[in-house]
Amino acid sequence: MRIYETRDYRDMSRKAANVISAQMILKPDCVLGLATGSTPIGVYEQLVDWYQKGDLDFSQVKTVNLDEYRGLAPDHEQSYHYFMDRHLFSRVNINRSHIHIPDGMNEDWQEECGRYEQMIEELGGIDLQILGLGHNGHIGFNEPDFQFAPLTRRVDLTESTIEANRRFFSEGESVPRQAYTMGIKAIMSARKILLLVSGADKADILKKVMEGPITPQVPASILQLHPDVTVIADREALGKL
Ligand code: F6R
Repeated sequence: MRIYETRDYRDMSRKAANVISAQMILKPDCVLGLATGSTPIGVYEQLVDWYQKGDLDFSQVKTVNLDEYRGLAPDHEQSYHYFMDRHLFSRVNINRSHIHIPDGMNEDWQEECGRYEQMIEELGGIDLQILGLGHNGHIGFNEPDFQFAPLTRRVDLTESTIEANRRFFSEGESVPRQAYTMGIKAIMSARKILLLVSGADKADILKKVMEGPITPQVPASILQLHPDVTVIADREALGKL
């Protein structure tokens, strides 16, 4: 794993956006694997800014998102569809038919997950996968478990993830307890991976991910086996390494 230490969140976002831009320039029809959550917001801001300045073109780019809550419609403010639209898709010239996010409204989870898995294969896999890191070491919604789960599937979210997500829902509103997530196989098959980590609250888990044993109890630790992972993390997140 290559590690780039940045001064702060802003610096992390800018460096990550540079890596993504380089990918888009080298291969304009690349497949980008995208994440939601608070970590990549600054990256998307920066990409939008460069797009508005005329430096980036999304017209041929294809995107595949990691996950979506089960039961949330695309226009629900907390759905990942809504998030991606708000932070990136509605602000750049991406072709709508090139956007892929699991359909949380498809109740037939086997059909939905099978479709998603096949779609990734038909796209020829992912060129650059962007990942955030959960406090429990999850990537996508691949939560700590007794084995690594390879395929796109329906998952029960852990209590800690449900709690961490609660801040995004208004009081009294029920927080989703299940999600559809891309599995470890599609993530590990990405040609390049960019792991973004910011903040002192991620320092312990980042140390486990990078220096600890490879275990499904820390799902992101499997990234140690990938040949091309770049970690861009701020000083605070790297504080325990
Ligand atoms: C979101 C996702 C999650 C987040 C992780 C970190 O699509 O896949 O794995 O990357 O929960 O979330 P933040 O960035 O909010 O700390």
